[in-house]
Amino acid sequence: MTASANSMARTPVADALTAQAPVADIRICGWVRTRRDAKGFSFLEINDGSCLANIQCIVDETLPAYAVIKDVNTGAAVEVRGALVESPGKGQKWELRAATLTLLGGADAETYPLQKKRHSDEFLRTIAHLRARTNKFGAAFRIRSEAAYAIHEFFRERGFFHVHTPILTGSDCEGAGEMFRVTTLPASGSAVPPSGNRFEADFFGKECNLTVSGQLEAEALAMGLGKVYTFGPTFRAENSNTARHAAEFWMIEPEFAFADLTDDMELAEAMTRTVVARVLERCAADIELFDRFVDNGLVDRLRTIADQPFARVSYREAIELLKASGKKFDYPVSFGLDLQTEHERFLAEEHFGKPVIVYNYPKSIKAFYMRLNDNNETVAAMDVLVPRIGELIGGSQREERLDVLEARIREMGQNPDDYWWYLDLRRFGSVPHAGFGLGFERLLMLLTGIANIRDVVPFPRTPGNLEF
Ligand code: 4AD
Ligand code: MG
Repeated sequence: MTASANSMARTPVADALTAQAPVADIRICGWVRTRRDAKGFSFLEINDGSCLANIQCIVDETLPAYAVIKDVNTGAAVEVRGALVESPGKGQKWELRAATLTLLGGADAETYPLQKKRHSDEFLRTIAHLRARTNKFGAAFRIRSEAAYAIHEFFRERGFFHVHTPILTGSDCEGAGEMFRVTTLPASGSAVPPSGNRFEADFFGKECNLTVSGQLEAEALAMGLGKVYTFGPTFRAENSNTARHAAEFWMIEPEFAFADLTDDMELAEAMTRTVVARVLERCAADIELFDRFVDNGLVDRLRTIADQPFARVSYREAIELLKASGKKFDYPVSFGLDLQTEHERFLAEEHFGKPVIVYNYPKSIKAFYMRLNDNNETVAAMDVLVPRIGELIGGSQREERLDVLEARIREMGQNPDDYWWYLDLRRFGSVPHAGFGLGFERLLMLLTGIANIRDVVPFPRTPGNLEF
């Protein structure tokens, strides 16, 4: 791209629109949303992604640059220099009176896919490389950025260190076996060697997968740093083609020492409420857009989340509530069975009308590392369930007792030797500790009211989809 001669700094549209006074000479760059030709001049609506609003530019036909106006179509990139003045028209406080207009990159009026009209989410997914230029996706990705920042801010304020855990791993934290294998072996024709280890000739000499959780490593780091959190990509080859599951998603996993289940619930609730409150305040215009066009009532729901304490019930109580509800569910409700999304949503959406933390789940449906309760039947697990989505957060107090942990690993049909270093943490200076995992995309669905996880990730990966 050619920088204009005697180039001055570009002013983001967000700054121009919140100016306190007129500016004699300002430089705006962006993409044209619409052009309207009137008698003697043209109106351009320009958006540069810095905020939801466009800036209106008036280009007079007496300008030498007016010659290019016929090529300034929807989607074209332009640079406009001129005066920022109070707008006589309604709908905007400021407008830009162009002195120069430069066409930086044209967009063909016939073939540019984002002509000014409403497009379906399904269509926009097929042009994910362009959809950040729409109001809806621009807003979603700005909210995504602000939410990430608010999360880092929250943990930093609470003394948690941001740590990085491996993406390539040799272990399966959740024991779910739904992992993506990473290999450098040729795609075909590799015979199993005499040793029987199929991965002998592979890069690491053993099976390698993309991480499904950084928790185990985060626990190790918490046993030295006290309070840590991860914020990283997570991969699950669940073949569930739902609106809430992605094959690649981002998870935030705090882990802290000298903490129990109650501390864990407190942290999860404080984090959720703080992040919701801050994003609501900092992305007001973008969230307003979602309230108006995507999910009426969003702002009120977010205010409730920010302002009111979450409900808390044990899994046992939750089962009783579901049974007493008189609702007809697709999946059975009975102690020992996992809660399905329909159950989770009923609790949060209909019964409590706000987020609810369900704790003390049966050990049979939870991972080996969760701390066994004295009744020997339940573990110190907790899930945060929210309206419209269901599970937002899953966490637990961790089993810190070596013998109990070893027994649980065996009970799950696994070999304690595979977890030697994890067990070492219980051999040397073991302490009560806890943590949880927040699905970042689920949080964004909550913040925007977007119903499909494919629309809160710029380039979603789901079964059968690996474009872009
Ligand atoms: O409940 P999960 O499986 O918990 C763990 O992975 C623990 N190791 C976390 C911990 O204690 N450190 O996953 C945590 C959260 C879920 O509550 C959900 O929000 C999200 O991650 N999640 C997904 N989000 C999008 N797509 C998927 N396929 C997801 N699977 C889980
Ligand atoms: Mg879970």
